Amino acid sequence: MEIPKLQIGNLIAEIPIVQGGMGVRVSLSSLAAAVANEGGIGTISAVMLGDINIHRNDYERISREALAAEIRKAKNLTSGLLAINVMGALSNVYDLIKTAIQEGIKILFFGAGLPTKLPSVVEDPTVNLVPIISSARAGSLILRHWDERYGRTADGLVLEGPLAGGHLGFTEEQLNHIDDYSLERLLPEVLESIKFFEDKYGKKIPVVVGGGIYDGKDIAKMLALGASGIQMGTRFVCTEECDVSPEFKQAYIDCKEEDIIIVKSPVGLPGRAIKNKFLEDVENNGNGKIKCHYKCLSICKIEKSKYCIAKALINSFSGDVDHGLIFCGKNAYRVNKILSVKELINELVQELKQHLSPN
Ligand SMILES: Cc1cc2nc3c(=O)[nH]c(=O)nc-3n(C[C@H](O)[C@H](O)[C@H](O)COP(=O)(O)O)c2cc1C
Repeated sequence: MEIPKLQIGNLIAEIPIVQGGMGVRVSLSSLAAAVANEGGIGTISAVMLGDINIHRNDYERISREALAAEIRKAKNLTSGLLAINVMGALSNVYDLIKTAIQEGIKILFFGAGLPTKLPSVVEDPTVNLVPIISSARAGSLILRHWDERYGRTADGLVLEGPLAGGHLGFTEEQLNHIDDYSLERLLPEVLESIKFFEDKYGKKIPVVVGGGIYDGKDIAKMLALGASGIQMGTRFVCTEECDVSPEFKQAYIDCKEEDIIIVKSPVGLPGRAIKNKFLEDVENNGNGKIKCHYKCLSICKIEKSKYCIAKALINSFSGDVDHGLIFCGKNAYRVNKILSVKELINELVQELKQHLSPN
């Protein structure tokens, strides 16, 4: 049976799989290009790409140059579909978006913050704007605001559920009742809430769902529920092409279900990570006084925080996992080997074909 393609604007991915943007430096050009070469959408995370030991006056320029270089590298590796992922909480978010557009990126995933003024920054209609949401309410809020203010609607939405990795769009209280916020429950509400805007703008707003999707059977289930595609993060970490250190990947392979916990990050949001020496040290005594050279995240509460999240994520990226935060999805404990992106996608596609419903 033919697997459905994923259309965002006038761009068509041959397979309905989006590799989710993963900061810091987890999803760079090598991973994104490999996914794009297999017919999916490969996403570069634009977060903290440049050297971090710099003067604050250089921060924006260095970040911009590093993102441009990463996009160029990816474009040299693929002619497939590439996207960037930005966090609304980044202090230089709009500067990064403009850079990505100048470099020819046509799909923009925007999470961790409401993209209220995004359409005024990105006027080019060929750039597809895809907010990441965790509820129908957040989606409606964005679409209503864009409609009233800019006469524009989204080109897609990513619905990220509570099983995802990294920062989560749920409160700790909600995460204690995870089943109430399952994708199976949230997706129909989102699909219902966008109908008005689909009718008004005469176009389909594809909804891509992510968070805990592990195999082709999960993908088939989400497509049957009305998702146009799925987004995966965790499984792409343990691929040969993912740029994180071998130690980071090994932490995924070694972890057990009970090692995967919810942490409160310095930005005030809950996140999912692997319990390790770093988190134990933070719990016991913190990391001492933290110097912040440039406020990379506008919502970071560094004065109250026990560690710098950018530094902690870069440490684990580089292999110093004992001093690093290792974000992961709820299903990371199921990963037991490193595959190439080609092998992983082939496996997912085979499983998906077996489980696709006939209608
Ligand atoms: C290590 C890691 C880092 C992540 N960083 C980001 C990020 O910077 N921005 C974002 O929107 N999502 C981030 N995510 C979420 C992923 O893009 C994706 O939506 C999510 O992981 C999907 O769930 P899964 O990991 O269960 O497949 C991250 C996930 C992981 C595992």
